[in-house]
Amino acid sequence: MASATPTRIIAVANHKGGCGKTTTVVNLAAEFGRMNLSVLVVDLDPQSNASLHIGKKHPSEVTVTCAELLLSETEKLPLAIHEETHIPGVSLMYGSLNLGKSEDDLKDGTPRPSEELRDKLSPLMGVYDVILIDCPPSLKLLTSNALAAATHLIIPIESGSQYGMYGVTDLMKHVSKIRRINPGLQLLGALLIKHDERQTVCKLIEGTAQEQIGKLLPVRIPTSTKVNQAAMAQTSLHGMDRTAKVTREFKQLAALLAAELKLNGKESNDE
Ligand SMILES: Nc1ncnc2c1ncn2[C@@H]1O[C@H](COP(=O)(O)OP(=O)(O)O)[C@@H](O)[C@H]1O
Ligand SMILES: [Mg+2]
Repeated sequence: MASATPTRIIAVANHKGGCGKTTTVVNLAAEFGRMNLSVLVVDLDPQSNASLHIGKKHPSEVTVTCAELLLSETEKLPLAIHEETHIPGVSLMYGSLNLGKSEDDLKDGTPRPSEELRDKLSPLMGVYDVILIDCPPSLKLLTSNALAAATHLIIPIESGSQYGMYGVTDLMKHVSKIRRINPGLQLLGALLIKHDERQTVCKLIEGTAQEQIGKLLPVRIPTSTKVNQAAMAQTSLHGMDRTAKVTREFKQLAALLAAELKLNGKESNDE
């Protein structure tokens, strides 16, 4: 299916674990899918939480995951794309525990080890409206590959934790370095997760994120038990509870990003 708009590749990155990367990827993908956009999720995390959440197969049963694709020729690309997932309109490139080994092999066996994913995804330009890349909790080669392939970047920050900003300056330095090989990479902003404006810690994190990252997305994701429930039920927040505040915030975020990125989706009317 050829798309009228150029493909936007959004990396969701922060090497801090548990800050909401996977939740953001899955629920943005679901909302973009609901807007009739064609969406691909690329799971670059060895822990493969996005694959376990939306995939119909167990990552260990998948022959060509991101791990194999990164080390292979582009011919394997069609085998790496799985159109059947638990989320309508969303395709998946599975993650795998083998990604750790692929990262080591890339370092030793490739001339431009940070640019393999960009090369592997290049035939998909114009095929999907949006590609969302879920990054691992590290700033090593897998994250570099995601940032080198991406057109845009979202940095989730756990607002409800006093350690939410820990390491962000390292991340920003890493992003600057990657811009040497991907000068067009645009920061969409930091996304505050588990945010509660009544809490002092959240206000502090909000101020520091604005200062150190420079750009905050105008949506705040609240804490909600629905997030874990949706993951356990292998559905999106919309599938779990379409009227919950957390669902509405992700929906608003997708609409804002679609407007900013000029994605020509049509709002589905299944409410
Ligand atoms: N808004 C939220 N409210 C409550 N729990 C959340 C929220 N966002 C994420 N979580 C939970 O926090 C944990 C970490 O989130 P996750 O998206 O997996 O982070 P990461 O991918 O950065 O490691 C998961 O158990 C997830 O279900
Ligand atoms: Mg994750």
